[in-house]
Amino acid sequence: MNISDDHRPLVFAHRGGAAELPEHTLGAYMRALEAGVDGLECDVRLTRDGHLVCVHDRRLNRTSNGKGLVSRRTLAELDQLDYGSWHPGYPADEELPELSRLLTLERLLGAVRESGRRVRLLIETKHPSRYGAEVERRLIQMLRRFGLADPKPDDPVQVTVMSFAALALRRVRAQAPSLPTVYLLELVPPGVGKGKLPFGARIAGPGVDLLRNRPSLLPAMRAAGHQTYVWTVNEPHDLELVLQHRVDGVISDRPAFVLDRLQQM
Ligand code: G3P
Ligand code: CA
Repeated sequence: MNISDDHRPLVFAHRGGAAELPEHTLGAYMRALEAGVDGLECDVRLTRDGHLVCVHDRRLNRTSNGKGLVSRRTLAELDQLDYGSWHPGYPADEELPELSRLLTLERLLGAVRESGRRVRLLIETKHPSRYGAEVERRLIQMLRRFGLADPKPDDPVQVTVMSFAALALRRVRAQAPSLPTVYLLELVPPGVGKGKLPFGARIAGPGVDLLRNRPSLLPAMRAAGHQTYVWTVNEPHDLELVLQHRVDGVISDRPAFVLDRLQQM
């Protein structure tokens, strides 16, 4: 398949490129930027003392040497743990703190700003119903500190907030009306199949299996003027599918593989 520059999708490193390096570590994010991705995907959740940290799971067990709920620990407690050496991509003979240290959203935003690169940052809030409005409130507060809550076209850093929960999108819209949002989809709720997204969301975010099972979704989104970013595109056959559909964004645990494939086209 040939793909023209107009149809080249944006490439996002999912959790920094979770198949390649320890997820949600600064080292993984910086490596992905060096590889040439257009953007980074990051999940955020709250610590017991109200800090936003970049961790996907509710529990620490899978991605650190700790155990238990992230939400029950303070930032200082979480910062003691090792988030890197469990991963097969972790360098065994080198001590690289960027690949094993807990990443806060504040640190990620600071690093992205300091890099001076053009970066699209997709931030997913986990889990809005459990924490009331606090996750989105703290997120918007933090984005304001970095001048990122009201996007300016000439700013090299552009933030988009994502959620599976329409409620979270409503909260973001109420506090930062011009911030773009993605409505993440595991299934197609009523209305969405006809191209309607809730609370001003501009982008649909279906999983790749949903795109395969509901091929009418993408034309419906396009007709309604919405873009589509698809997750998590890791396998060659999934990449071919999303390229055939000419999606606008590809979110992958293997960004180097996706970039390589696009380069060959
Ligand atoms: O990019 C969207 C995707 O990250 C949603 O799924 O579970 O990996 O956060 P999850
Ligand atoms: Ca996510």
